[in-house]
Order: sequence, then structure tokens, then C-alpha cells
Amino acid sequence: MKIAVLISGRGSNLQALIDAASQAEAGPRWPAGIVLGISNVAGAQGLQRAEAAGIPTTVINHKDFEDRETFDAAMTAAIEAAADGNGAELVCLAGFMRLLSTPFIDHWRDRLINIHPSLLPAYKGLDVHQRVLDAGEDFSGCSVHFVRPEMDTGPIILQAKVPVQPGDDADALAARVLEQEHVIYPEAVRLIADGRVSVDGELAQIDGKGKN
Ligand code: GRF
Repeated sequence: MKIAVLISGRGSNLQALIDAASQAEAGPRWPAGIVLGISNVAGAQGLQRAEAAGIPTTVINHKDFEDRETFDAAMTAAIEAAADGNGAELVCLAGFMRLLSTPFIDHWRDRLINIHPSLLPAYKGLDVHQRVLDAGEDFSGCSVHFVRPEMDTGPIILQAKVPVQPGDDADALAARVLEQEHVIYPEAVRLIADGRVSVDGELAQIDGKGKN
């Protein structure tokens, strides 16, 4: 499956997808290839990661567009022109820090996924780890989900849970969660690329079985 990855910054989840492909060279078959990395921020660290892996990249700066819809349309055009015009079949948001317009989300419906650093539906939005700590939670985690117009909603494909430990600050908790993000994002892509994920009544099912 040909995938496009949208980033705005560090790109460690992009790196996890790159690593999953390269580690699989000697091991089990890896069913996905990244055909394009898009950043809305020039100089984002994730762009260097993609370039180092030989992945085509492009910067599409939202500031160059008059509105969200036009910016999003330019991204769709780039994604559909990738892989010599064959286009990507799955779009992965990986720390992409722009809200997407409903036309873009509808166009890519059930072909657009996101990773979020909380156990959705809890703690949507930004500044998740500090809010989890402030609430005195015992656990946090991360979620991979299909994207719907309302921010951080949509059928949940995979989640991983981590403990909140005494003395955690937001950075310590973020690091523990991020480690699991790097496990479940490639795993979710693998499941989708292998055709094992379906959406039924706004619930994601793996091998026809609902989990959420
Ligand atoms: C991750 O925590 C991800 O869950 C969130 O943004 C962060 C991106 O990190 N959506 P990176 O750019 O993949 O390192």
C-alpha cells in the first residue's frame, strides 16, 4: 500500500514508519511504502528523516494559501500526484499541526488516519500530558484512529495504555507514551495495508471483530 505522511515537526512517528519498512527487509513482509512526506513547515526535522530514507518530500506552507480549503486541496493534489501519478492510498497524519477542512477529510474518508497521545475519547486536543497529570490519572496512552471532521474523533483502530508514574512531569509521561506510539502506528498501518481493518457503523473492526 502506498502511503503519504503529513508532518509539521520532529517526525519521530514518521521515523517509526520508515524503520518498520527497513527492519522488515530481513524479516516479515512489510506491506506499506511511503511515497511522499509532506510538511507544512519548511525545515521540519521530519523532512530530513524522510530525505535520509530516500523518500520524496514536499513543503506546502499553509501561509501561502488564502484559506484552509485551498491549502488542503493543494495537499490532495500532491498526494494524488505522488508515485508517478498513481497517488497514495492511505494518508497518515504524524504530528501534523493544522486542522483539516471537512472536504479534505471527506475526500480521504477511511483512508486518513491520525495518531494522538491519549486514550481517546479522553483528552482530545493539545497539552494532553499536563492535563492527564493535573487530573491525577493512573493511566494514559495513545490511539490510532480514522479521521473525522471533529478534532480527534473517528473510529479507533489501535490503542496502547501506559502507567502514569509517581514524579512524572509532562515530558516524562510524553516520552513513555511516545514509545508506544512508535509501536502502534506501524502496526495500524500494517493492519490496514493487509486489508484487515474495516469500518462498520463508525467502529473500526480488525478481522471483522469490533474492539471498541
Ligand atoms: C505525537 O505525540 C503525536 O501523537 C501527536 O504529535 C506528536 C508528534 O510527534 N499527534 P512526532 O513529530 O511524530 O515526533
